[in-house]
Amino acid sequence: MPQLAQRMAKSKESAIIEIANKARKLKAEGRDIISFSIGVPNFLPAAHVKEAAHHEIEYDKGTYLPGRGTEQLINAFIKRMGENGFNYTTEEVVVGNGGKDILFKGLLAVLEEGDEVAFPSPYWSSYPDMVEFLGGKPVCIQASAEQNYKITAAQLEQAITEKTKVFLFNNPNNPTGMAYTEEEVHALGEVLVKHPDIWIFSDDIYDRMIFDDLGFQHLLKTHPILKERTLMMQSISKNYGMPGWRVGVGASSAQMAKAIVTLNGQSVTNVCGVAQAAAAAAFEESQDFSDTARDEFAKKRDMVLKYFAKVEGLKCPKPQGAFYAFPDVSSAFGMFYKGAEIKTATDICKMLLEHKNLACVPGEAFGEPKALRISYALPFDKLEEGLERFVAFFNDLEEK
Ligand SMILES: Cc1ncc(COP(=O)(O)O)c(C=O)c1O
Repeated sequence: MPQLAQRMAKSKESAIIEIANKARKLKAEGRDIISFSIGVPNFLPAAHVKEAAHHEIEYDKGTYLPGRGTEQLINAFIKRMGENGFNYTTEEVVVGNGGKDILFKGLLAVLEEGDEVAFPSPYWSSYPDMVEFLGGKPVCIQASAEQNYKITAAQLEQAITEKTKVFLFNNPNNPTGMAYTEEEVHALGEVLVKHPDIWIFSDDIYDRMIFDDLGFQHLLKTHPILKERTLMMQSISKNYGMPGWRVGVGASSAQMAKAIVTLNGQSVTNVCGVAQAAAAAAFEESQDFSDTARDEFAKKRDMVLKYFAKVEGLKCPKPQGAFYAFPDVSSAFGMFYKGAEIKTATDICKMLLEHKNLACVPGEAFGEPKALRISYALPFDKLEEGLERFVAFFNDLEEK
């Protein structure tokens, strides 16, 4: 019997996809499921984006495309980043099949066996899996709800060892929705400048989804000197409502971008031309569409917090970006629902699905077992109904 490679033992299905699949199955069986589980924005791309895709199909030239990405997309990306204060040349940019592909290939390009990759925890659940799969060692820097799920400079300094190869930073953060202030980013940058051998991977996938006029803060704004060793990752999945189109863009040193171009060449050849044309239109044209989506998310965030306030003991730092809330539900541990004891956040998620037809993701998937994640990218009426069920569940808990 032929065997799979050992590295496949390190690859497991994402807990988020597992919950989402379970919710989908129950829905198909006729249950009235509301899903707070999956991180997709509930809007579709703007009309000009769809037109660009149609145009590309119409004028297809029947060829392979450059592994770096099409000129049109790269130029649109460079222009958009320039407006945000980040200046890149074509040689410093590379297109991938989603932001995940850029991060994966970036890690593939730099990691040796046993290298450490440090990142704040709670984290996006793919980080540790990707790192382990590639022979690296994930190092989680834990930030609790009490510290607003944000790490301090002192914590970062402490986590760095001579084996640290990459610091991976996601701001605003999935799963917490928290965004770092300029001072907080600056403090992290001060640590990183002292460690010139560390790569910085900046996962900026939610950069346009920031509320309360906070503004997008970035290590390259506080410390432009870090540019040569930073891989900035952007994606159309969240900001432009295009997760299935699979386009992400990386910007870094020419050396890093070239490494990812080489990996593209030996794996996927190029990203689908229709998707790249659509992505170019998303970056190039009016950003009003994405701004409207952001403002809606801010209103939904407010609704979520209004309902959370009805649950005693729930601790949830106010999310300032993306479309997630990450309440610490540990005050419910040791309580009972319909006679069954709650020991973990996973128990709560199972009970919510079983008794309230509500799908949430346990914090274990993101490195924080005391919490659970709610993705509030739903229409207002569904969101409200889901929140009613959530509150009803917690208010029905008993001491014994
Ligand atoms: C923090 C974070 N990074 C990266 C990704 C991957 O995004 P993409 O669809 O561009 O591969 C996601 C998707 O959920 C995410 O939440």
